[in-house]
Amino acid sequence: PLVTTKEMFRKAYEGGYAIGAFNVNNMEIIQGITEAGKEVNAPLILQVSSGARKYANHTYLVKLVEAAVEETNLPIALHLDHGDSFELCKACIDGGFTSVMIDGSKHPYEENIALTKKVVEYAHAHGVVVEGELGQLAGIEDDVNVSDEDASFTKPEQVYDFATRTGVDSLAIAIGTSHGAYKFKPGQKPQLRFDILAEIEKNLPNFPIVLHGASSVIPEYVKMINENGGKMPDAIGIPEDMLRQAARSAVCKINIDSDIRLAVTGTIRKYFNDNPSHFDPRQYLGPAREAVKDMVKHKILNVLGCDNKA
Ligand code: G3H
Ligand code: 13P
Ligand code: NA
Ligand code: ZN
Repeated sequence: PLVTTKEMFRKAYEGGYAIGAFNVNNMEIIQGITEAGKEVNAPLILQVSSGARKYANHTYLVKLVEAAVEETNLPIALHLDHGDSFELCKACIDGGFTSVMIDGSKHPYEENIALTKKVVEYAHAHGVVVEGELGQLAGIEDDVNVSDEDASFTKPEQVYDFATRTGVDSLAIAIGTSHGAYKFKPGQKPQLRFDILAEIEKNLPNFPIVLHGASSVIPEYVKMINENGGKMPDAIGIPEDMLRQAARSAVCKINIDSDIRLAVTGTIRKYFNDNPSHFDPRQYLGPAREAVKDMVKHKILNVLGCDNKA
């Protein structure tokens, strides 16, 4: 059966590593991720955004993830990514998810607390864990202009109050990561506020921290896209050594979506260029699935450190 993240995070915190939380939208992505997890014996978090749920349908995604559990026997948590309302969180809790995020970070502090607390009460009564968020990530999905001035980093002096008053099980923070494939401006040196992370750890010891917007925007796939008719100049992510450093700290969950998109798109673009006469979707979705698998294995082994922790 699906598991919650409780045990995963406890062990990750102790062991100085992080669990990968991968966004899923279809069968091939779910298979690629979970086959990778199986090969290196890693626990997994598969997460579904409200957009994914609209695209693929709640039931299809739950059943596909359940099939992956049956096939791999891995500890897998099914998580709602960026839930924005109590109703959406409730629908996922009632519908088989084992973890939900209520992202109240855009609301004023007290409203974030009230909304998060309401979700926690319902979730905990149903055996489901909750991720909250404090601070706002710079930029928005696909926004090409991410900058420090737009970011509002998590305030370390708020984390203890937020965690204790809401009862959340984990906390997403803003320390300079952002969603999408353009995380820093051209010429800007990638940087994360490890000083803020250290303050957060000090004020809220023994508490699992979550890093969103943590794709490294793998240059190899950006190149493959640009060499095969794509146009993603200046795509840039979080350097892997920074993510490794984060994984060694209180960060227990690292979110990855953009790197999956890049692996799929790069592989399919190249396939179409190399094989203009092919038209069977299995011919290009197969290699795309394989690319997701290789990419996820690389993350587990070289960035997250959660291999052999299942
Ligand atoms: O945080 C955003 C994730 O990458 C999911 O993106 O809302 O387009 O599915 P999405
Ligand atoms: P990336 O866009 O960096 O992959 O971040 C994904 C994420 O945070 C999903 O919640
Ligand atoms: Na960690
Ligand atoms: Zn996110």
